[in-house]
Amino acid sequence: MTAGFGVYVHWPFCARICPYCDFNIYRDRGVDAERWTRALTRELAYWAERTQGRRLTSVYFGGGTPSLAPLPVIEAVIDECERLWGFAPDPEITIEANPTNAETSRFRAFHTAGVNRLSLGVQSFDDAALRFLGRDHDAATAQSAIETALAVFARVTADFIYARPEQTARMWGEELSRAISTGLTHLSLYQLTIEPGTAFDRAVSKKRWAPADEDVAADLFDATQELTAAAGLPAYEISNHAAPGEESRHNFLYWRQDDYVGVGPGAHGRVTTDGVRIATETELKPADYLGMVESKGCGAAFQGALSEKEVLAERLIMGLRTLEGARLNPSEWEALEERIAPLVAQGLIRRCDERLVAGKEGRRILDTLLATLVP
Ligand SMILES: C[S@@+](CC[C@H](N)C(=O)[O-])C[C@H]1O[C@@H](n2cnc3c(N)ncnc32)[C@H](O)[C@@H]1O
Repeated sequence: MTAGFGVYVHWPFCARICPYCDFNIYRDRGVDAERWTRALTRELAYWAERTQGRRLTSVYFGGGTPSLAPLPVIEAVIDECERLWGFAPDPEITIEANPTNAETSRFRAFHTAGVNRLSLGVQSFDDAALRFLGRDHDAATAQSAIETALAVFARVTADFIYARPEQTARMWGEELSRAISTGLTHLSLYQLTIEPGTAFDRAVSKKRWAPADEDVAADLFDATQELTAAAGLPAYEISNHAAPGEESRHNFLYWRQDDYVGVGPGAHGRVTTDGVRIATETELKPADYLGMVESKGCGAAFQGALSEKEVLAERLIMGLRTLEGARLNPSEWEALEERIAPLVAQGLIRRCDERLVAGKEGRRILDTLLATLVP
């Protein structure tokens, strides 16, 4: 399997801030499209110089809400990626979108610009839940956005948030069956997490409501695995489910520890040069990011080599999220032997050739497992 290589573009602006979200996001108060185009393409050029000779297998526009970005920004970034690196055959170019009418009307323009995969933030098909999640769309709008997306793009995925307060297995089962019946071939199904500093965190601390308890969440996780597998959309990663061949190629860059360049405010990157894995993180605040790129050509607030220990930790943490597991080399197997043996004995993980794979039970308690395994 040849290693992939991709570009992640973070567009940090949203029409509104959702109460559960702790991504690097800011209210969209109008942006200078030309200035952003210049900054993003300049930073791409900075990284192209340092990663010569590679072809791109994927580009991913994440957010925030990149489907609100001025179209010329999206077009220029895709064109510049092609000019600077060139695409490998059948590249995957994904954009995240909110299912509002404003954005649905832009789907064809994104497709013309070269986007061939759409990720829709549906979150739920329950109107009361969508109000609770602070979303600016209802279930009917989400349903029609999915239909429009499937008419425009060959590949479409949708995000859902489950294990919400007081959500029963029957309620989630109905919602998930509806998502499956749309004909989508990929679903990202995330359990609601209460992130520090968010409005939900404040509400929970003030005991306004309580998150779903762990046992209920575990039961909903199991129901999710069963329902999606029965529908031909088995899990291939903790939260990601797809028909065979429809897996997210870009996200596999993270899970397989391949290389990806991160541009835009608060983007992360991992680039290996001369055998050294460099981690990068750009300035978080849009104004600081623009200023940094305009003065230095690159928005990296942090750029540094990962130690062997850090590389191994990342490989385990990311790789064990997937059903294919984490690839280890002989010295890593040796180094981890004492930590692996008891977990194998408990049936939580197993060795598959050079891969360490978490079993069904292991994936259910992945955080605990990793706490034991990662040196
Ligand atoms: C970068 S966000 C997508 C942004 C896109 N603008 C949207 O809202 O649809 C990626 C996904 O992460 C999930 N997510 C974000 N915060 C979460 C949380 N606290 N708990 C569970 N899932 C979350 C949501 O499903 C969201 O669609």
